[in-house]
Amino acid sequence: MTTTPTSTLNTATGATHAAILGIGAYRPSRVIPNSEVVEAIDSSDEWIQQRSGIKQRRWATAEETVQVMSVAAARSALEHAGVDARQIDAVVVATVTHMLQTPAVATAIAHELGTDQAAAFDISAACAGFCHGVALASDMVRGGSAGHVLVIGVERLSDLTDVGDRGTAFIFADGAGAAVVGPSDAPGIGPVVWGSDGEQFDLIRQREDWRDVLASDQPVMPHLVMQGNPVFRWASYAMAKIGQQALDRAGITVDELDCFVPHQANMRIIDAMARAMKLPDTVRIARDIAEQGNTSAASIPLALDRMIAEGDARSGDTALLIAFGAGLAYAAQVVTVP
Ligand code: COA
Repeated sequence: MTTTPTSTLNTATGATHAAILGIGAYRPSRVIPNSEVVEAIDSSDEWIQQRSGIKQRRWATAEETVQVMSVAAARSALEHAGVDARQIDAVVVATVTHMLQTPAVATAIAHELGTDQAAAFDISAACAGFCHGVALASDMVRGGSAGHVLVIGVERLSDLTDVGDRGTAFIFADGAGAAVVGPSDAPGIGPVVWGSDGEQFDLIRQREDWRDVLASDQPVMPHLVMQGNPVFRWASYAMAKIGQQALDRAGITVDELDCFVPHQANMRIIDAMARAMKLPDTVRIARDIAEQGNTSAASIPLALDRMIAEGDARSGDTALLIAFGAGLAYAAQVVTVP
């Protein structure tokens, strides 16, 4: 049925192009080497490095809350972008480890940063959250619902990790990364390729929902559980195709790509995707996982921040971001490095 409006509404129009204007990161102070996690899971430093590429990870202290880490990462992204907090119209926080069901942590972060009552909300897309946030922010800036958007990926996965679980204890970690998305003279964020496969909902999940936990005589934290091997196979092969689609939609060939910044889940997955996409040796690849572990929604901005700091990603470079995880959910886009 076609509705005939009784009056004509104004619609918003935004910037012609959007780009990431600045990146920031916060790495928690506690460095946890493999030697600290192996005993509880009957493993070894050698096995962990060989199977995952992880040498150490960062776990947050009690003081390094989701909000504290987010604000620190956001401040450095704002500084990098040369944007004042009062210019931020929306704060989008991707996380699965803000432990209050409501309100969203984004409102507290927006307030602490000193935004002028920016719109603020959390999104739950697990490890794919940051790329979902960048896609939303790009559309918001171009659609006219925000001038500048702060996108934060933040996790305290150590709160939801069972240190005695062989399949996850050595993988998950904590940290925060942030990006300022705003108007730009040239296109700086390519079309997103995103989707989900809910048939595989149970592959990575919180073990039980809170009502089941509380109904138990002896409630225990409902930790994350993961069927590592099927996730590994899905990520290694299906995700390379998504990365290629993101390149195609942006009109970029692998030879024009400077940087590859995949979700930092496992070094072998990173290598398998690079092989499947036939990335030339000239493409610099993010390998933050070795020092940082898997920080879910924070992993891509943390990895990009390191590449910028170490000179592996330079302003103006073309980078492919691709994120995937629980849901299963995924998102990829080509961006210009700020
Ligand atoms: N330490 C030592 N040995 C371990 C171990 C550990 N922590 N965990 C499993 N093993 C053993 C198993 O018992 C098995 O032994 P067996 O061959 O004698 O039966 C062997 O190692 C292989 O187990 P498997 O589970 O098949 O290992 P894998 O090669 O798949 O590696 C992961 C395990 C978790 C590293 C890998 O599956 C992975 O990284 N998956 C994806 C994780 C991920 O990306 N998660 C987040 C997505 S956002």
